Amino acid sequence: MSRLIPFCALIIIATFLQMCRTPQPSGYTWRLPPGVPPPPGASDQPARIELGRQLFYDRRLSGNERLACATCHRPELAFSDGRVTPTGATGEPLLRNAPSLLNVGYLPRLTRANPTITSLEQQMQIPLFTTHPVEMGADPVVVLARLRADQALVARFAAAFPTDPDPLGWEQIRTAIAAFLRTLVAFDTPYDRFVYQGDTTALTPAAQRGMQLFFSPGLACGHCHVDLAPPDRAHPPRWADLEYLATGAGRSLDRGLAAHTGRPEDAYRFRVPPLRNVALTAPYMHDGSLPTLEAVLRFYASGGHEGAGTEPERAAARHDLIAGFGLSDRDRDDLLAFLTALTDMEALTDERYGDPFAAQR
Ligand code: HEC
Ligand code: HEC
Repeated sequence: MSRLIPFCALIIIATFLQMCRTPQPSGYTWRLPPGVPPPPGASDQPARIELGRQLFYDRRLSGNERLACATCHRPELAFSDGRVTPTGATGEPLLRNAPSLLNVGYLPRLTRANPTITSLEQQMQIPLFTTHPVEMGADPVVVLARLRADQALVARFAAAFPTDPDPLGWEQIRTAIAAFLRTLVAFDTPYDRFVYQGDTTALTPAAQRGMQLFFSPGLACGHCHVDLAPPDRAHPPRWADLEYLATGAGRSLDRGLAAHTGRPEDAYRFRVPPLRNVALTAPYMHDGSLPTLEAVLRFYASGGHEGAGTEPERAAARHDLIAGFGLSDRDRDDLLAFLTALTDMEALTDERYGDPFAAQR
């Protein structure tokens, strides 16, 4: 008996320590490396997450039933859409390139240049209802009536929001889609295995050299792209520290943060985009003006000139670190190998992320 007591104590301590590791909501199995918690506010309710997935892929959410969220955020392209800029449900062109939604739950400020949009639920109002230009063009009354006519869907809402007296409304639609979006995590990359799990074979020699270039003072990529940590100073991705900076990239009239704040010093500033899975999200920059990663590297090597608009104000806004550098063919290939090693291939095939209607389409 006396021997059993320390044994029991050990089990209790071990269980406690286990619980104290990364907090993982109970009902959902997260695909996350040790030490990385699920995004803040993540749901632990599978019925809600699954409903969110259905809605994300459901064209009935747009006014004329032509667009789903997934039309512009395609799972096989890391939830970007491969186009320079998308077209809304009624044919109007959108201003900006559609970004990836992988790891979007970790971003404290959403969209490319509006720091006041701080939650997924809030951001969703834009694609659903905005008219400048029309994206999904959802009429709140018409779309709700359409969804309420689908008995199977009504039952799903009731199961996902069991305590709500009226479970099928816009608040629940937003809550469910946001719950799905927060599950879109993608960290299982060769780079993350190399940096966080000490797997020295995860990166090829070329990718390792590309990584050194990326974090070198001469290229300074790591100075702004702080969602990636240098291997000798591994720390969790600093999503909250992604600033709004001007690279001078782009050819459109979009003045970025200044369009929102009205301050001249914010001209051409855009949020530094997270770089995980970037090999899947061409074309690049806020207006999709650079077609490939190679073009992005040429842009930086040329000091922000090649492939960008030439307005004097754009050039004047450019950050001091976009100063140009020599780029040999080998440097280019090594940097491309590094950027490609930021891809989580499993995220592309995770059935929980994919189109639930795929078989019927
Ligand atoms: C017609 C194309 C289109 C549709 C449909 C669309 N989006 Fe987007 N989405 C975009 C574009 C373009 C942006 C970038 C907007 C910006 O930065 O100003 C964006 C940005 C976002 C962001 C911010 C990502 C970030 O990195 O900050 C989220 C989240 C998002 N969309 C979710 C959704 C959801 C949810 C739906 C469906 C309700 C949806 N989108 C429908 C084109 C679309
Ligand atoms: C001064 C800060 C800064 C530096 C230095 C910098 N970047 Fe960027 N990077 C940005 C910003 C801001 C954007 C977004 C620009 C836009 O949307 O127009 C960006 C965009 C990108 C993109 C496109 C991502 C996308 O989804 O469209 C890639 C790839 C990229 N940078 C890689 C690099 C590499 C490689 C280097 C080093 C050679 C580098 N960056 C140096 C700030 C920086």
